[in-house]
Amino acid sequence: MDSWILLPLMVLSSYCCYGSLCCPHVCICHFSSNATEVVCSNIAFTVFPYDRLPSNTTSLFIEFTNLSSIFAHQLEAVPLLQELHLSGNQLSSLPEDLLKGLVHLHTLDLTGNRLERLPAAVFNHAPLVNLVLRDNMLLTADAEWLPASSNITWLDLGGNRLSSMPTKLLQDLTKLERLDLSNNRLEKLPAGILDSLPNLQRLHLEGNRLSSVDQSAFQHSSNLTHLFLQENQLYKLPAALFQGLHHLEVLSLNDNKLCSLQSGLLDKLPALGSGAGQGVDLSQNPWECKVDVVYLWKWLRDHQKVVFFPENIQCDSPESLKGRPILSLTEEELKTE
Ligand SMILES: *[C@@H]1O[C@H](CO)[C@@H](O)[C@H](O)[C@H]1NC(C)=O
Ligand SMILES: *[C@@H]1O[C@H](CO)[C@@H](O)[C@H](O)[C@H]1NC(C)=O
Ligand SMILES: *[C@@H]1O[C@H](CO)[C@@H](O)[C@H](O)[C@H]1NC(C)=O
Ligand SMILES: *[C@@H]1O[C@H](CO)[C@@H](O)[C@H](O)[C@H]1NC(C)=O
Ligand SMILES: *[C@@H]1O[C@H](CO)[C@@H](O)[C@H](O)[C@H]1NC(C)=O
Repeated sequence: MDSWILLPLMVLSSYCCYGSLCCPHVCICHFSSNATEVVCSNIAFTVFPYDRLPSNTTSLFIEFTNLSSIFAHQLEAVPLLQELHLSGNQLSSLPEDLLKGLVHLHTLDLTGNRLERLPAAVFNHAPLVNLVLRDNMLLTADAEWLPASSNITWLDLGGNRLSSMPTKLLQDLTKLERLDLSNNRLEKLPAGILDSLPNLQRLHLEGNRLSSVDQSAFQHSSNLTHLFLQENQLYKLPAALFQGLHHLEVLSLNDNKLCSLQSGLLDKLPALGSGAGQGVDLSQNPWECKVDVVYLWKWLRDHQKVVFFPENIQCDSPESLKGRPILSLTEEELKTE
């Protein structure tokens, strides 16, 4: 009677798949002349069937499966891999040699796992261009993660628990275009940390605990187009902070503790709001509507088209003007306060 059950099992396990003709039965494989994509999503795995992957797999998606471990010897089955997407799993650690032998891997996405600490040189072995570690539980970022001449263009560490960022990690990432450090616990940006990122275009620092930014922070970031500083504790910005950001199109400073802007801060930003849906957000700050607010008031009047939510840029003090949009203030009111 047992053979009833055993027979199909034996057929299944002795089913041979040779090299490029495999496809794990729980996955979907797309073959084309220059790429083989394998998608295994929303399936419960205990052990992933690496031995059944097409040997010429170039993109592998194992997402939302509760996968809790992955090892270098498993990935040896797919030496041509270019993209590895592992988001929405239960990975809590990665072996240091995981990417060894993946000499074509340019994209690694580990969004939404349980990573807390990673071995020092863990991303050193592959020529990564895109590295996404969003929404994990990382406490530290290691200076040795990336190789010396890394060609990385996108590094995403958003949604972790980082309280500091090693300057050395960001040293000489000359190709980096997009850096996301949002929603961490950063209290300050070490001086010079962005200085060797000449191609940086998008910088996400929102949702941290920054209370100030050094006036030279962006001095070598002249290619910045998007700068996100909202949802921090910023109370003061140096007058020269944005000097030289001639390509800056989007600037978010909302939800901070700014009560005034130094005269000249937003001048010489010719590209602000140059595209659709772009501009400056200064809303939800406790603006103090005294003499100092005149610069901001004039600037808002001259740049209304590029200002998001102008009605939410309101006076917090003095009491007589509390809740008033700054744009609605009259010259008389500004003089008398
Ligand atoms: C991978 O193998 C399949 C099946 O042999 C083939 O059709 C496809 O062209 C191959 N793809 C690549 C990128 O070599
Ligand atoms: C495969 O070729 C298509 C069309 O020529 C191209 O768009 C795609 O980027 C190529 N994919 C890879 C992985 O080289
Ligand atoms: C992953 O685990 C969670 C919690 O145990 C469960 O609700 C979910 O269905 C699992 N996902 C898969 C694809 O099995
Ligand atoms: C970066 O790209 C250059 C040129 O393509 C290459 O020689 C170098 O090996 C790459 N660096 C890494 C770490 O992959
Ligand atoms: C901005 O980017 C361009 C093109 O990627 C590059 O040539 C230039 O050197 C960068 N700007 C600076 C100040 O490095």
